[in-house]
Amino acid sequence: MLVETEQPWPRNVWYQAAWSQEIGAKPLARTILNQPLALFRGADGKVGALEDRCCHRGSALSMGTVVPDGLQCGYHGMVFDAGGKCVHIPGQDSIPPQARVKSFPVVERQEFVWIWLGDPEKADPAAIVDYPWNDDAKNWPHKHGRSRVKCNYMLLMDNLMDLTHIPFIHRKTVGGGVVMEQVNARMDVKRTERGVHFIRWMRSITPPPTYVKGAGFPPRIKVDRWQEFEFVAPASVIQWTGALPVGCGAEQNRDQPGGFSLRMYHGAAPETHGSCHYFWTGANGYRQSEPEATEQLYSELAATFEEDIAFLEAQYERIMADPHRPLVDIKHDSARVQMRRAVERMIREENKTPHAAGAIAAE
Ligand code: FES
Ligand SMILES: [Fe+2]
Repeated sequence: MLVETEQPWPRNVWYQAAWSQEIGAKPLARTILNQPLALFRGADGKVGALEDRCCHRGSALSMGTVVPDGLQCGYHGMVFDAGGKCVHIPGQDSIPPQARVKSFPVVERQEFVWIWLGDPEKADPAAIVDYPWNDDAKNWPHKHGRSRVKCNYMLLMDNLMDLTHIPFIHRKTVGGGVVMEQVNARMDVKRTERGVHFIRWMRSITPPPTYVKGAGFPPRIKVDRWQEFEFVAPASVIQWTGALPVGCGAEQNRDQPGGFSLRMYHGAAPETHGSCHYFWTGANGYRQSEPEATEQLYSELAATFEEDIAFLEAQYERIMADPHRPLVDIKHDSARVQMRRAVERMIREENKTPHAAGAIAAE
């Protein structure tokens, strides 16, 4: 099955809609799962998500203004609360009950704004991915990024599941040019309840440029490096990577000072079948009291992901030029293949509607 062409996406899941910091005094227009949205922070500080289409004349609500009672359409001034109900029509006392727009469940937590576009009855905040490091800026100072990428969201997840691309396309940042030391990493992959987990160990390797800049490793030092990635279906990846000088016993204890340590979250929210929002955040577990260390890490990561994005967009174009032509899996696809299966299972589960089950039982 080609997710890129034939597959929709799971709907009954939480997708990241924005970083908290993106939603301020002005409404934010964003499309997720082909649904145009107006995200706004009400006077009570809570984030609301409405369809980006006024019920009066179809104007984009994201072009409106936040007022004490909700979001005011910029065209003729109708006001909608976070539940989508019209609460004010300028110059008209009675509000017809059909004067409402769709609203969607939203949860703001750990600096993420999550949205649920599926069946609202099933929206359970307990299913939201936990990323506690955003709440621990003292030990894990961080800075968030976001890009719109012109590819199906699954290609972005693929990219994170096969890290053998790193020494090839990220030579100047997290890769360095030493290919064999990195592609020969020991890789342990296991299926989890919600996705797949892997850890890669590279023993006694040359630290890549980003690690040297961050940790201040001296020239010619060798390090033990790890990459631990947990994929949570359908579109979240929690990462812990780092390196310690050889001889520190990194495999026994990664939580030691004197090395490079990076916590990350990567998330994708499909915008359309051919585009997605890439949310990422990077936290430095070294030189925590130096804001310039966090800034430097952010620039290194932003440059790294620009390199990924250039590859992903070109790759998507090539695939879509002949979408049914098969591709070849190699050894390094082990985590990637499991990741795809987890998403496919999720979509299959969701498509098992009571109606379909009834039809089978009646046969
Ligand atoms: S289009 Fe929104 S108030 Fe008229
Ligand atoms: Fe990459």
